Amino acid sequence: MSARALRGRRVLITSGPTREPLDPVRYLSNASSGAMGFALAAAARRAGARVTVVSGPTALPSPRGVAVVPVETARQMRRETLKRSRAAALVVGAAAVCDWRAARPARVKLKRGPGALRLTLLPNRDIIKDAASRRRPGQVFVGFALETGRAEARARAKLARKGLDLVVANGPGNLGSSRARVALVFRRGAALRVEGPKTRVARAIVSEAARLLDEQRA
Ligand code: C5P
Repeated sequence: MSARALRGRRVLITSGPTREPLDPVRYLSNASSGAMGFALAAAARRAGARVTVVSGPTALPSPRGVAVVPVETARQMRRETLKRSRAAALVVGAAAVCDWRAARPARVKLKRGPGALRLTLLPNRDIIKDAASRRRPGQVFVGFALETGRAEARARAKLARKGLDLVVANGPGNLGSSRARVALVFRRGAALRVEGPKTRVARAIVSEAARLLDEQRA
């Protein structure tokens, strides 16, 4: 990738987990650290982009030179992402968005009791799919697919279903690790396998996304 492949371009990245409250002190979430989203942000920044990350709660320091919009819930993440997605050339969905939220989070702390606690969960909307459905010509949308089997085929199906240009197929072994082994799945052509430290994998993803942007412009 040329050093300034994304010079002056706006890049928007969703990153980290979301938190869905059950009551004032409890929530549903997942183990996403936000490492991949921040590595992508740093790589895009190094390639000359103006980068914004809409980030769920993370313990990691924000990458230098990147604007971070902190959010908690999927609904907040969706709102902050859709506000900005049309102005971005490249939109990357690296967040591990909770699939469900409590239908009615309790206003006071739920009390322990002998009986079962029944929760009604409602599905959250798909943020990257909604952003891609509002696409302007020339934009590029990238998503991730965490799969335990038939990763490439499933990633290809996800590409079509969500209207994306590139899906990064990930194995569960990458979670919580500083390394990643992924396959980049495009609309046309063969998948590209990349393996190494997350920083290197992030650079490869940004480089391929920059190439797709250039192709759209040509
Ligand atoms: O459908 P699945 O959750 O496997 O898709 C993963 C991809 O979709 C990731 O890029 C993730 O950031 C994005 N996603 C999203 N909003 C959701 C669920 C997933 O943007 N509600």
